[in-house]
Amino acid sequence: MLDHEQVVVRSGRRSRLPVIVAVHSTALGPAAGGLRLWHYPDWRDGLTDALRLSAAMTAKFAVAGLPSGGGKAVVALPEGMVLDPDRRRDVLEDVADTVESLGGTYATGPDVGTGPDDMAVIGTTTRHVFSRPARLGGSGDSSPHTARGTLAALRAVSRRLYGTASLDGRRLAVAGLGRVGTELARLLAAEGAALTVTDVDQDKRKTGHELGADWVAPDEILAAPVDIVVPAALGSCLTRQSVTRLRCDAVVGPANNQLATPDVADLLHRRGVLWVPDYVASAGGVVHAVSVEVHRLSAEEARARVDAIEHTVTDLLTTADAQDLSPAQAATALVRQRLAAADPAGRSA
Ligand code: PHE
Repeated sequence: MLDHEQVVVRSGRRSRLPVIVAVHSTALGPAAGGLRLWHYPDWRDGLTDALRLSAAMTAKFAVAGLPSGGGKAVVALPEGMVLDPDRRRDVLEDVADTVESLGGTYATGPDVGTGPDDMAVIGTTTRHVFSRPARLGGSGDSSPHTARGTLAALRAVSRRLYGTASLDGRRLAVAGLGRVGTELARLLAAEGAALTVTDVDQDKRKTGHELGADWVAPDEILAAPVDIVVPAALGSCLTRQSVTRLRCDAVVGPANNQLATPDVADLLHRRGVLWVPDYVASAGGVVHAVSVEVHRLSAEEARARVDAIEHTVTDLLTTADAQDLSPAQAATALVRQRLAAADPAGRSA
């Protein structure tokens, strides 16, 4: 069954690369979600990613309580392809054409492999774009806000598990030092957390060193003996296998689609590992962008909404307990409820 309202797959007119836009649901409002410019063994893997990521965006907005829908764009690069600046521009213009052709049903933003400068290029063709640089009237890089929102989620979990929202002295393992992971690691280090970090890119060792963090190999980070593991890289890291190796109390991070398969959430719960659904913990970036660019909130008000993720997570954990559900089940129920309220016919629930 196709759960999505609309999926566009095009061969880019200029780039000849597969441009994929998945609009999962507009039940709550026009769809928004980032553009992932990434390598896939086959473009169909990019399609699968877009379908999953766009559904996660619907859930992200529903839980955050914002009137936006879920979408995502993926340009599937063949393995090993490096884009020179001209070709990158071609790709971005192809994406911009596709976004524009949807007439506002979907607005794009940054995601893995893209940033504000790319959004500036897309913005020359379509106004349905978030996170352009501030000098062009956009809300700028969303990564610091995603990091801040994840920190808010971590505070809720910390209060719940250890009785304090402070992460001072807490041991955390950050898996992935991309833009969000690095920013989050900085915030955590500044607060006095003891960090273990990794990245597939060995050059990031330097960043780890600057943060005073211990470095482990990427395939060891999930099994690190820490309080909380923070997935901040690509998805599907939580598998039936990797979850049995966890030695932490909780897994909370900004990476999208952390579960390799949905049943892993139950496994985590049975093992007594508190998992906050990724679409709850990672909402800070879009919450900030939509609040500033669509709802015209001040920077301060937008920041308050990002910080409110702490309350969202606290409420979710309380509800889960009261109803004897896992946090994942409680979050799914909340998403269903909010979508059903917006669309009583149940079309998009
Ligand atoms: N990459 C962001 C996410 O997964 C998407 C996004 C950020 C969209 C900022 C719009 C603006 O949530």
